[in-house]
Amino acid sequence: MSEALRTRYAAEIANTSAGTEVVLGGWVSRSRDMGGVIFFDLRDPSGLVQVVLDPESIPVGAELKMEYCVKVTGLVQMRPVGTQNPDLETGLVEVAAANVEVLSESKTLPFMIDDRLNVDEFIRLKYRYLDLRRPTMAANLKARAKATAAMRRALDDMSFMEVETPTLIASTPEGARDMLAPSRLQRGSFYALPQSPQIFKQLLMIGGVDRYFQFARCYRDEDFRSDRQLEFTQLDIEGSFWDEDSVMATIETAVASAVGAVKTAAPSLPFERMTWTEAMERFGSDKPDLRFEMEISDISSIFAETDFNGFSGAIADGGSVRGINVGPRDFSRSALDKLIDQAKGLGAKGLVWAFCEDGGWRSPVGKFLSDAEKVAVLEKFGAVEGDLLLIVAGPTRNSLEVLGQLRVDLGQPSGHDELRFVWVTRFPVFDVHEDGSLSPAHHPFTQPESIDQMIDDPENAFARAYDLVLNGSELGSGSVRIHDPKVQEQVFDTLGISPEERESRFGWFLEALRYGTPPHAGFAVGVDRLLAILVGASTIRDVIPFPKTQRGLDPLSGSPSLVTDTQLQELGLDLRPEVRAALAQDDDTAGD
Ligand code: AMO
Repeated sequence: MSEALRTRYAAEIANTSAGTEVVLGGWVSRSRDMGGVIFFDLRDPSGLVQVVLDPESIPVGAELKMEYCVKVTGLVQMRPVGTQNPDLETGLVEVAAANVEVLSESKTLPFMIDDRLNVDEFIRLKYRYLDLRRPTMAANLKARAKATAAMRRALDDMSFMEVETPTLIASTPEGARDMLAPSRLQRGSFYALPQSPQIFKQLLMIGGVDRYFQFARCYRDEDFRSDRQLEFTQLDIEGSFWDEDSVMATIETAVASAVGAVKTAAPSLPFERMTWTEAMERFGSDKPDLRFEMEISDISSIFAETDFNGFSGAIADGGSVRGINVGPRDFSRSALDKLIDQAKGLGAKGLVWAFCEDGGWRSPVGKFLSDAEKVAVLEKFGAVEGDLLLIVAGPTRNSLEVLGQLRVDLGQPSGHDELRFVWVTRFPVFDVHEDGSLSPAHHPFTQPESIDQMIDDPENAFARAYDLVLNGSELGSGSVRIHDPKVQEQVFDTLGISPEERESRFGWFLEALRYGTPPHAGFAVGVDRLLAILVGASTIRDVIPFPKTQRGLDPLSGSPSLVTDTQLQELGLDLRPEVRAALAQDDDTAGD
C-alpha cells in the first residue's frame, strides 16, 4: 500500500499532540529562509500551518516557491516561546519536516494568493482557480455549500421532493430576454433556456407532485448589475393546496436554516410582513431596507393653504408633498446641487432642501413659506439643530420613489451585519407603462385578489404576490397561482395578449390547466443574492465559483466565443453581413 498523501489537515495540527507524525498536503504559501532553517506556511482547505525544515537534510526545501503543491511528512512540535503567532489558529505549533515532496511546481503567479491585495477582477476571473485559493473565496464557496445543504435538509424534513425540470425549453415569461440555443435537428428552431422553472413547477402540481423544490439554474439575458448574472441559481419551491401563509412558513424555515449554517445564530421567526402599499408610503421602495429609519412623511396637509407654487401646484394636480429627515449632515452647496440633479434624473421636478438652524429653516425656499408652515414641518420630522430635510412635491408615486432612492443612498448603514428580513405582500397585479400599456408586475400566472377589480380597474388591482426582502435587496418572489383556466384567460385578455399569441406561446400550458388543477402557490429564492448578503460580499460574483464579468464574458474560458462556419451550417444559421463585417474589422484592429 502506498503511503497516505495526507493524514491531517493544517488546521487540525492545532489540536494534535506534539510528537505525532503527520502527512500534510497543500500549497506553499510563504517561505522564509532564516539561514540554516527554512520556514514556510503550508495552506490547505482548512487553513495554514508553519512547516520548518533543515535544507541540509531536505535540499528541496531551498527550492520551494509560492504555490508549489507539496506533501510534507513530519512531527508536530510546539513553537519555541517568542516565535508563537497568536493571530493564527495553529500559531502555537509547527511541523518539523522529515521529508518534503514537490508534487507539482507552479509558474510565477499572476497575483499573490492574499486577501489583503486588491486584484483587478478581470485578472481574478481569468485565473479563477487561483482566486479560489484565496481564503475569502474559499470560505464563500464553503458557506454556499453549507447553506444549500441546510436548505435541502430542511425541505427534505418537510417532505419536499427534489425534481429536476428541463433546461432546453420553450420560452417562459419572466419578463427578461431569453437566452436561446439553436436546434440542429429542427433547423431554424430554437430552445430557450429557462428564465425560471415557473411553468414546469406548475405542471408538476397538476401532475400531483404536491411539494416540489429544486436548486434551479436560470438564464436571463438582461443587463448586469452587482446582483445580477446571465445565469444564476434559485431555490425554487411550489406546493399544492397552499396559500400565502404556507409558502412563507416554508421559506422562512429553509432560509433560517441557511442563515444558521453560515452565521452564528439563525434569525427569529416569523419574519416581519408589510404590504407593498405600506412599503412604498414609508420607504419609497418595494424592497425596504429596515436597518435604518429615515422614513418618508406626508407633509401635504401642512401646505394645504400654502402660497408656495411649487407645493400648492403639486397638491392641486392630485399629487403630494413628501419628505425625509436625513439627520445631521454637513452638505456643501455643490453636494446639495448633486442631490437635486439626482432627484431630477429620477423624474422629480425638483428637490427642496432645508437645514434646521436656530430653530428655523435655512433653505432656498424658506422665504416663500410661512413661519407656521416651517415650524409644522420641523415638528412633523422631529428635526433638531443641524438636521437636513429633503422634500419632493409632485405625483405621489414618483415622489415616493425619488425619496426612497435618496433614503437608501444617504442612509445606507455600513459595517454591521444585522439581517433584516421583511415580507412585502399584496403587490399590484400590473405595472403601468407611460403609454398606458400593462405588463405583469410578477408573472402572468399570479392570482389577482379580485377578478372583478382586475377587470374594472386593472391599474389599482392587487395580486396575491409577495417578495422576501433582506437588507434592502429582493431575495425572492412568489405568488399564489391561477388554477382556473378561465381566470388565466382573463388575465391574458387584460394584458392584451391576443388569443393567437396566447395559443402559440402558452397553449400547451392552458391545456394542462384544464385537467383538474389543484390550487397552488410557490416561491423562488435567489441563492446567489442570499449568500452574497450572508458572507458580506459586495457582488454576487464573489459567491459564484465561475461567474461572468459585467459584460457577460468569461475571461477564463473565453466564452462567449465564435463558432465555425461548419457548425453554423449544421444549425442552418448564418451571421448577418453587418455582424461579419464588424468581426472582420475587429480582427484587423487586433492585428494592428
Ligand atoms: P423572480 O423573477 O422574481 O421570480 O426571481 C426570483 C429571484 O431570483 C433572483 N434573480 C436573480 N439573481 C441573479 N441574477 C439575476 N439575473 C436574477 N434574476 C432574478 C432574485 C429574485 O428575487 N418564477 C418566479 C418565482 C415564483 O413565482 O415562484 C421567479 O423567477 O433573487
